[in-house]
Amino acid sequence: MKRLQTIQELNQEISDSDKIVLVPTMGALHVGHFTLIKQAIEKAKQYGDNGKVAVSIFVNPIQFDRAVDLDSYPQPIEADLAHCERLGVDYAFTPDSSEIYHSDRSIHVSEDSLSSLLCGATRPGHFDGVCTVITKLFNLFQPAAAIFGLKDYQQLAIIKRLARDLNFRTEVMGGETVREESGLAMSSRNVGLTEASKAQAPAIRSAMLAAKAVYDRGETSADRILAAFRLHLAKHAPLSKIDYLECVCASTLQALKEVDKPAVIATAVFFKQVRLIDNIIL
Ligand code: PAF
Repeated sequence: MKRLQTIQELNQEISDSDKIVLVPTMGALHVGHFTLIKQAIEKAKQYGDNGKVAVSIFVNPIQFDRAVDLDSYPQPIEADLAHCERLGVDYAFTPDSSEIYHSDRSIHVSEDSLSSLLCGATRPGHFDGVCTVITKLFNLFQPAAAIFGLKDYQQLAIIKRLARDLNFRTEVMGGETVREESGLAMSSRNVGLTEASKAQAPAIRSAMLAAKAVYDRGETSADRILAAFRLHLAKHAPLSKIDYLECVCASTLQALKEVDKPAVIATAVFFKQVRLIDNIIL
């Protein structure tokens, strides 16, 4: 595996014939990322000898709305590189912030519709930061495909829109959410949970299943479906505080009153400073 720390190294290393499958990450790689990387390796095989897997590891400062969140974001770079090596990644791109952002930068990429909802409503500027960095990564790597976790359903929807609207020749793919045995979705943020919060956080998943069970029994009122989530979470995770909880259209992400089309329940829940997201498709 080659570690690329600068854009110059990247440009020297990657050739026009490479068919890159890119897995953009912010590091602190866990089993969820390993699954995306394995999916990327399978995808790259489609391109024969030209297929190459690249993982970017970059804690993108401009997508953080809370300094405390950025400062506490784990950055175990040596362990991350060892994971990439072990999994068979071809390129690990680990730039410094100054490599990616000029101090007088004045252009950013902004998505105007899907970004104002869900996480976007409570994290102003977050998706501008994501769209800007992904545009840069797509320009740098010109990937044939790029893979993003379905745990961040909204992010995946926005990046698909970005690729479509800016005509990137990159196939944007989703990768399944991987869960701990308890049901808690794997996340780099889980390491920040206290013991007590860690014990309660799996209730996010069981609350999702409780809400889905109500829907599966024939309930179509979003309020009543979400009430089942709230009730379950309040009972099993008293340390939690819901940031948002919505039942939205699976394609437009607009909140639904009646679940009469493919829908997703999406939530962000705080345990102290740690903000966890999850979703379930109805
Ligand atoms: O999901 C993430 O880890 C980040 O938002 C991403 C896609 C790597 C952009 O910084």
